[in-house]
Amino acid sequence: MIDTHCHLADSQFDADLPAVLARAKEKGIDTMIIIADSVAESERCVALAAGHSELFCTIGVHPHNAKEWTGDTERRLLALSTYSKKVKAIGEIGLDYHYDFSPRDIQRQVFMHQLRFAGCEGLPVVVHCREAIQDIRDSIADIKPKKLVLHCCTERFEDVKPLLDAGYFLSFTGIATFPKAADIRETIRQCPLEQLMIETDSPYLAPVPYRGKRNEPAYVVEVAECIAQIKGLSLEEVAATTTQNAVEFFGLD
Ligand code: NI
Repeated sequence: MIDTHCHLADSQFDADLPAVLARAKEKGIDTMIIIADSVAESERCVALAAGHSELFCTIGVHPHNAKEWTGDTERRLLALSTYSKKVKAIGEIGLDYHYDFSPRDIQRQVFMHQLRFAGCEGLPVVVHCREAIQDIRDSIADIKPKKLVLHCCTERFEDVKPLLDAGYFLSFTGIATFPKAADIRETIRQCPLEQLMIETDSPYLAPVPYRGKRNEPAYVVEVAECIAQIKGLSLEEVAATTTQNAVEFFGLD
């Protein structure tokens, strides 16, 4: 199984990353995509992935940090993507109108810029969306990225159906296990398994029964179990198909 989205370069894993990776391996998680949220973290992700055969990474600037984008940012991202074969996507990029940590017009500019950058580099994109699905859809319709996953999908099915119709992917976290997440479970029910991926978004959003604790890749099993239950499939079937989806999407060998 693959955890397609975890922030293992986060300082919350500084003290015990080897133990975290060992627990993931024990649960059959043999590959993890570690996700960046800034240029500095992109550099940490590339360095971390270089030392571990089971780790691959993204590079990119999160909408929260869009206001930090400078003339130098793209040069540094380009250097990383040229230098490291571990870089498998641009992300996480997108729009966050819930927190609005960066002005919305800057968020949109930086998002569009990175969508184009991903196109030039021939890399898929990992998209973050919070209360901004319409603008996300508009930006995507403009640039038409080749491969895209909407990560930590919390949208209603009708809002993401156009993305599925365009051949893009949805990725789900432990939020699907929360009692109040009926809308998300309905989206999962309707999303074809062939366009679905699983992730933890560690260290955030630990699934039931670990809710409230630090999340880690081993818990992606709970996400897969939840999806199996919703879709009336076996855990093995969900694991096999979502793994195959991730291998193809991120171009893993
Ligand atoms: Ni994330």
